[in-house]
Amino acid sequence: MPALIQTPAWTALQSHAVALRDLRTVELFERDPGRVERFSAEAAGLHLDYSKQRIEPGTLDLLIALARQRNIPAGIERLFRGEETNPTEHRAALHVALRAPVEADFREQGRPVMADVESVRQRLYDFAGRVRQGDWRGATGEPIRDVVNIGIGGSDLGPRLVCGALAGEADGPTPHFIANMDGAELHSLLRRLRPETTLFVVVSKSFGTQETLVNARHAREWLVAALGARAVAAHFVAVSTNLPAVVEFGIDPANAFGIWDWVGGRYSLWSAVGLTAILSLGPERFNALLAGARSMDLHFRETPLERNLPVLLGLLAIWNTNFIGCESQLLVPYSQRLSRLVGWAQQLELESNGKGVDRDGRAVDYDTTPVLWGHVGTNAQHAFFQMLHQGPTIHAIDFILPLSVQHPYPDMHRKLVANCLAQSAALMRGKTAAEVRAELEVQGLQGDELEAAVPHRVCPGNRPSNTLLLPQLDAYHLGALLALYEHRTYVQGLVWGINSFDQWGVELGKQLAGQLIDVQSTALQDPSTLALMRRAGF
Ligand code: F6P
Repeated sequence: MPALIQTPAWTALQSHAVALRDLRTVELFERDPGRVERFSAEAAGLHLDYSKQRIEPGTLDLLIALARQRNIPAGIERLFRGEETNPTEHRAALHVALRAPVEADFREQGRPVMADVESVRQRLYDFAGRVRQGDWRGATGEPIRDVVNIGIGGSDLGPRLVCGALAGEADGPTPHFIANMDGAELHSLLRRLRPETTLFVVVSKSFGTQETLVNARHAREWLVAALGARAVAAHFVAVSTNLPAVVEFGIDPANAFGIWDWVGGRYSLWSAVGLTAILSLGPERFNALLAGARSMDLHFRETPLERNLPVLLGLLAIWNTNFIGCESQLLVPYSQRLSRLVGWAQQLELESNGKGVDRDGRAVDYDTTPVLWGHVGTNAQHAFFQMLHQGPTIHAIDFILPLSVQHPYPDMHRKLVANCLAQSAALMRGKTAAEVRAELEVQGLQGDELEAAVPHRVCPGNRPSNTLLLPQLDAYHLGALLALYEHRTYVQGLVWGINSFDQWGVELGKQLAGQLIDVQSTALQDPSTLALMRRAGF
């Protein structure tokens, strides 16, 4: 029997969406002068304007009713209380503890965790301080100049995003990131580094991920070839839950930093997984990142649903996905430093909520998680905004805009801001045939030539978006932004009744890859794969 969401609010939202179908958002501003104020909210210094969404006050009332009928407040409490929120792995998802102060009382299924969290955090900061001050030296006595993070998925995307976003503030060794199984990435980096001054941070919760292990092995070969086997201790550290595997790899356990199984990979930036960011940016800035996330956590736990940013973003995403037919959701950060945000958010959203069964294992009969994609603005305007403006399908966009910047070109920032605001306005208001006709007449077109041109220039408009303003892109507001999207993802999973914290879907690909590599088991492969293997020289 499929899983249905048959609450009164879900049913009411279905008919409400039909009633709103011909509504033009731009007209709602005329009807309701207080609309912008009504559909804006603040948290941790971030400002959300969701007034360009295809909603009216009654829509929000129904979405809040849906949140209550799906027990969102109780779900939030379960998360913060460290209860089993991941039933298929019988785990809590207690990433909020990682950004809390040591005096906070977080328990993982009843067991206090803050002493462990603080102990690892202090070891990380002590180690980073020694490397940054030159007290930690390589095997030949030189200080560390380059740090290479070897990891993939949540062991790469978060630290890579933070290092890129805050690169302007970096004052430690230069961070580099190796994730792909494609050896070209490792080869092109190692050619540019000196073994004497390079530190490798091998990040893997399981310490069993093939991409990470094969990259780490080749990196170790490179180091040993230059400096000998005894050099590994000074040039390799590890982040993992699997200490025996770390030791087997040949890393000194004293140089291993623990993480816990109650932290999901895509929620692990705030743990020792963030070590490369701590080395590059320093403990103080990492603490500011944690503080911003903590501020968003407190907002999420304490704020009424109607003013709760993660709840509002999650409910609006559900409105757009499950009720008004948006085909996908986009993040468009108008900040080049946030170029890695989309990749991080894709794993967060699509590995958390790309599920076909609910928590009880019943197939769902409703959409869970639309495709999430995007790119930085203004580049996106020259890539796919044509489709967003005139395509037959509608897509929901989150515009993300830092209001002040750290570069010496205020004229450029002003133009960047203007482009961001103009795009959300244009998507909402569109351009009618009458407006097009008037423009073309001014240009001197007339008759058949004018009429033929009109339909190609009309923009339907009524395309929904949020605009999220950050005062500036610093560690605190970046932490708040990332925590906001973590909780947004969780809110959607709660409404859909799915487990946002396991990822069994990624296991099959790993198994088949293992079989292909071990070519003795080709009997399991389909004819297409076998033919391709032959062409690939397997
Ligand atoms: O993509 C599957 C996954 O397990 C992610 O959840 C995780 O972030 C990534 O692989 C890396 O896993 P590990 O940190 O164990 O190497």
